Amino acid sequence: MDALPSFPPGFLWGVSTASYQIEGAVHEDGRGASIWDTFAHTPGRVRDGDTGDVACDHYHRWPRDVELLGDLGVRAYRFSIAWPRVQPGGSGPANPRGLDFYDGLVDALLERGIAPVPTLYHWDLPQELEDAGGWLNRDTAYRFAEYAAIVADRLGDRVTRWITLNEPIVHLAEGYAFGNGAPGRTLMFEALPAAHHQLLGHGLAVRALRARGATEVMITNNCTPVLPAGPGPEDAAAAALYDAFHNGLFLDPMLTGRYPELPGLGDDSPFIHDGDLDIIGTPVDALGVNYYQPTRVGAAGADSPLPFEMLPIEGVPQTAFGWPVVPGGLRDLMVGLRDRYGAALPPIYITENGCSTQDVPDAAGVVHDAARIEYLDGHLRALHEAIESGVDVRGYFVWSLMDNFEWAEGYHQRFGLVRVDYDTQLRTPKDSYAWLRTALAAQP
Ligand code: NOJ
Repeated sequence: MDALPSFPPGFLWGVSTASYQIEGAVHEDGRGASIWDTFAHTPGRVRDGDTGDVACDHYHRWPRDVELLGDLGVRAYRFSIAWPRVQPGGSGPANPRGLDFYDGLVDALLERGIAPVPTLYHWDLPQELEDAGGWLNRDTAYRFAEYAAIVADRLGDRVTRWITLNEPIVHLAEGYAFGNGAPGRTLMFEALPAAHHQLLGHGLAVRALRARGATEVMITNNCTPVLPAGPGPEDAAAAALYDAFHNGLFLDPMLTGRYPELPGLGDDSPFIHDGDLDIIGTPVDALGVNYYQPTRVGAAGADSPLPFEMLPIEGVPQTAFGWPVVPGGLRDLMVGLRDRYGAALPPIYITENGCSTQDVPDAAGVVHDAARIEYLDGHLRALHEAIESGVDVRGYFVWSLMDNFEWAEGYHQRFGLVRVDYDTQLRTPKDSYAWLRTALAAQP
């Protein structure tokens, strides 16, 4: 395989994980319950009844995981902080033991020259807040900003780069609209207040972080190029609506000060208060983008509960998850965002990109994941093209450092550069890990 093209000097290379997906230790050191504990323990919600109770046991094995990061040669590590470790019930005083964990992790990263990039919210809402309405309750936004301030007070002397929320659209869709993720509500478009309150919490948190010296604050959005299923006007309209929902909902208000047109959302929506859009539009320093695949959308049938339908993309390889592999979609997405938002578009970090593969370890436990190498190589080349065409992309993070709890799919999807044997907790770097290490060593 040819060497990758050179990315700009200072380009931030990293890998990503998230608290509930790797930590385990759900009852330790005063951690409270989160909506994912509740959801995963509800029969029928997660494949095979898997839970994050143990996951990769990262809470105990993190020194080994930091070694793996060091050996890989990444300059940054994106992880998430579990709100219920810091505030077990989502409000009130901090639990110092919860903060101690992240404090130690941050020091260990910095000792190895790896920049910590914490995400404050990767879907593990304290259950007590959900009991009070979760993100449907405006108060959760204010609680989130308080929590952000607590974390920044403890880590802000060493952490300068922060991510507020991870993929609020996916949390909204799976958690509040369709119900296949925690907290499992099925409100369809009536879930939209949970979008607004996440955005409000984001804006308030940006202010809290900046007041505590943060120099680079961003949000991470899942973005997808939307492809109309056919040439007709119905498919075009359905695709435009899906695009407004998936991409515009969490970008337009931040970058343009206005919501896109969506059913149930307008200037007169009662949950949008005077001044909210100013808070939501608090400038960010960068935009995190998670890219996995484009989405092909057509008009929905008459009896569909939704005004659009997602359709398969034929004729391209698929990941183990069945997701289409379209590397050029990453270039198109970058160029599309630049064209859409122009000067309002902040510099971009790709905060997640990667794939699940059907991993079969050899006798030594090593996984020869050629498909992952091909996926990453193709996407990095496409990203490089976007940079060449003038899009300001500052970094790229692989999802994920290691196999982990893939939400409703439990442990069935493996996204790691490192294999985790869940019986022994042994970590074994895959071929893709070795490939990435070599590729990074050759970068400026
Ligand atoms: C995005 C999410 O942020 C992450 O938690 C998830 O594991 C990956 N997508 C793969 O589905």
